[in-house]
Amino acid sequence: MIAIAIGTWIAFALVKTGNRPYQNLHIPEAYSGTSFDLHLHKGRHSFWAGATTATYSYNKEPFWGPTLVMNRGDQVKIQVTNDLSEPTTVHWHGFHIPAKEDGGPHQMIPSGGVWISQFKVKNNAATYWYHPHPHEATQKQLTMGAGGLIIVRDPIESKLNLPRTYGVDDIPLVFTSRRFTKANEFSYQGDSDKYGDFEFCNGTLDPQVSLPAQWVRLRILNAEVERGYNLGFKDNQDFYLIATDGGLVDQPIKLKRLKLMVGERAEIMVNLAQRKVGSTLDLYSFNQNQPFGFPGGEPGYYSPNGSYLNNLDFPLLHINVGAPKLKHAGSLPDRLVSNHLWKEADAVVTRKLSINGGGPPEKEFQFGGQYFDMGRVDQLVKLGSVESWTVRNDQIFGHSFHIHDVQFTLVERNGHPVEEYEKGWKDTVYIPRAGSVKFVTKFEDFASDRYPYMYHCHMSNHEDGGLMGQFLVVEDPSKLQKNAEGEVRLEHAIKAEQANQLNKLTLKKAPKVTSNVIAFAKPTLLVFLEQDCPCSRELASYVGRIASAYGERVSVVGILDASQTKAKEWSRSVAAKFQVIADPSLKMAKAYGAKTSASMIIVQSGGVIDHAYSGYSTSWLNEISAKLGKFSGQKKGPSFTDAPKTPKAGCVLVASR
Ligand code: C2O
Ligand code: CU
Repeated sequence: MIAIAIGTWIAFALVKTGNRPYQNLHIPEAYSGTSFDLHLHKGRHSFWAGATTATYSYNKEPFWGPTLVMNRGDQVKIQVTNDLSEPTTVHWHGFHIPAKEDGGPHQMIPSGGVWISQFKVKNNAATYWYHPHPHEATQKQLTMGAGGLIIVRDPIESKLNLPRTYGVDDIPLVFTSRRFTKANEFSYQGDSDKYGDFEFCNGTLDPQVSLPAQWVRLRILNAEVERGYNLGFKDNQDFYLIATDGGLVDQPIKLKRLKLMVGERAEIMVNLAQRKVGSTLDLYSFNQNQPFGFPGGEPGYYSPNGSYLNNLDFPLLHINVGAPKLKHAGSLPDRLVSNHLWKEADAVVTRKLSINGGGPPEKEFQFGGQYFDMGRVDQLVKLGSVESWTVRNDQIFGHSFHIHDVQFTLVERNGHPVEEYEKGWKDTVYIPRAGSVKFVTKFEDFASDRYPYMYHCHMSNHEDGGLMGQFLVVEDPSKLQKNAEGEVRLEHAIKAEQANQLNKLTLKKAPKVTSNVIAFAKPTLLVFLEQDCPCSRELASYVGRIASAYGERVSVVGILDASQTKAKEWSRSVAAKFQVIADPSLKMAKAYGAKTSASMIIVQSGGVIDHAYSGYSTSWLNEISAKLGKFSGQKKGPSFTDAPKTPKAGCVLVASR
């Protein structure tokens, strides 16, 4: 049965345009303004006649998400609601914003939660994107369809006579491929599904689009798991690169082929003015006979390394040339901008990273012999420093290196100057097998000793498998505390004094805090929380399970170091299953001696403290759950296996801001 299904697919894939009719290219809706609302949800969509497939998407899009259009200089607010039944995050790929607003794996949005990201748009006019970035679940959520484009406009770009009418002569093209299961669902089994068998553009299979016989601008994103594209037109028509990942290039670069690897964007201009109305052309990926190690060059049809699109020249988009639609056609300017790109000599700090590994298929690659660890800070960067990073790929496979926070200038490939088309602003760069890249960038504007930025391979199965690291940009790296191994950790191990101080409270009468509403009429769990603390957010989900399990028999009260309004917002953002009260001046915290968040105190009904915990861990949560069960006369409570093994404390509690 499977063999028959696959056989049919091969036939479709190999002589695809002959067998399946074209479908009209879907153009995602564009939102503009300064306030955006995104809802990530499940859906079902019919990609081909007679069958539907489960998808994830934002808002009304059937797959993928709306295009957000922003202006440089605007202060924007994006509210993201997670309507999935699993946690997610949303990362603004390519944006220069504070790490806390970045949407990396540390900005988790639990199922049902809401996350608000606010920042000033400081990026150049170019094409960026947003996508989920949850710890170890990026491949799945991306494969299911979650993602969207962001177009940034700025005054310099706006003055140029470039095509700029979205969906008419300025076309978003998001390319990716998918593999289907026998039941017609997307398959996302790590390494086995690194290559799709069917090519999509904006979620449309076998896409065709009608474009006016004038200059058109194509904004292209490679949104694949691993596959690279070698873009070009089937008839070898010239095109012009006008923008790389993070901005316009100085002047258009004439090309017949352009390599675009996972996560990279390119804006190209194509002159259709001399084409006859009614004529056609095809955008292709010329992936046949690429050098060894090219992602998608492997021969064969079958997983893990093959696919029906591998080592082939295959169509990406069929273009029908239509009558010119716009009175004022855009044109190709001679010069675009004057970029002040970085030079090697500007760098004051040099860093060297290597991609190595050799683990099992799902955990194949590492940076410098270490898999990603959410708690470990891998690089400390001083705010304001210009740095040169060399990333060497020791492996037999190519990788797509991406760094958050910055746009960089690529200054070298394998020790040689880079080609013209890679000289513009970039945030993602391909490193072929046994190759190395050197880039220079400045880490400016945003510092935090709590929130890190990520760097990683953008091939999402590699990223999920541990090929990721994180860096803090700080004002004074020497001030950060290191542990015995010389590492800076983001999670806080509990210190002995801390534990002792809280444990002294045991069997004392619970302090009465005048403003507090807690009656201790039933067994109560007090949970101290800090509004910006990732541990508090994590703890909220564990404590939520206790609250739900014991229902009315126990009260669980979160005490947040923030105003009433913030407490409400916070509670919504973690989808809290318990009451959260405001403690803006730390009255409660002080009365109970809680100096850091994520500490918990059990109070028996009547108001005697049973025990205080200066943090959380699997065994402490199990103990708390069992005690509450006993005190409430309900024997069996939830038990935990997934919380930290060694106790973790949260962040320092601070009086309301
Ligand atoms: Cu587009 Cu860290 O990602
Ligand atoms: Cu990789």
